[in-house]
Amino acid sequence: MLLQVITSTTREGRFSERVAPWVMDRLGQRDDFEVELLDLRDHPLPFFDGDAPAKTGRDYADDAVVRFGRVVDRADGYVFLTAEYNHGYPAVLKNALDSTFVEWRRKPVSFVGWGNTGGARAIEQLRAVAVEFEMAPLRHAVHVLPDVMRAIFGSEHPGDLAHFSSLEPRLAMLADDLTWWMRALATARAADG
Ligand SMILES: Cc1cc2nc3c(=O)[nH]c(=O)nc-3n(C[C@H](O)[C@H](O)[C@H](O)COP(=O)(O)O)c2cc1C
Repeated sequence: MLLQVITSTTREGRFSERVAPWVMDRLGQRDDFEVELLDLRDHPLPFFDGDAPAKTGRDYADDAVVRFGRVVDRADGYVFLTAEYNHGYPAVLKNALDSTFVEWRRKPVSFVGWGNTGGARAIEQLRAVAVEFEMAPLRHAVHVLPDVMRAIFGSEHPGDLAHFSSLEPRLAMLADDLTWWMRALATARAADG
């Protein structure tokens, strides 16, 4: 099974640069799935203005969207790494989602968020969006709160993964839950042919 960790912030100096190495390191130590990072910086997509991908399937006009869709297609489940921008999730992620559709269907998604409420408001919105994509959004998520963020910003060693130590049990729970759902839905998709 393949789990993709999707970095949804692309701006210079992004905090996701701190979160992604921790998530990748810990999930990479597990033997129940493979994990790969999908950084939206590596997939600059045009601002969506075409026909609804829910109707067109994988027939995309833009080569960058074709390439992105092929990458997303390979995964059995996802972890969205999300900031909170004005109480929502990043527009770059919404644009990537709106540009595609069938690739996400019937696969689980969980979330790691950060900010004043640990990205909780952005994550709640993403759960609702995920339902529209016929995904299975999971209950378990990791919320990186300001105490952890401040410790990292003020640290001489901001890349030290130990900054996230209080969140290790939450990430482990997220991974256990994702494993169950990835297995269940991969089996069901395979039975569909
Ligand atoms: C445009 C913008 C809007 C923001 N709005 C919120 C917000 O609504 N809630 C929050 O907790 N943090 C907010 N912040 C602060 C972010 O939590 C903080 O900048 C975080 O580092 C953003 O993630 P990033 O660095 O990966 O882009 C905002 C930041 C930006 C740049």
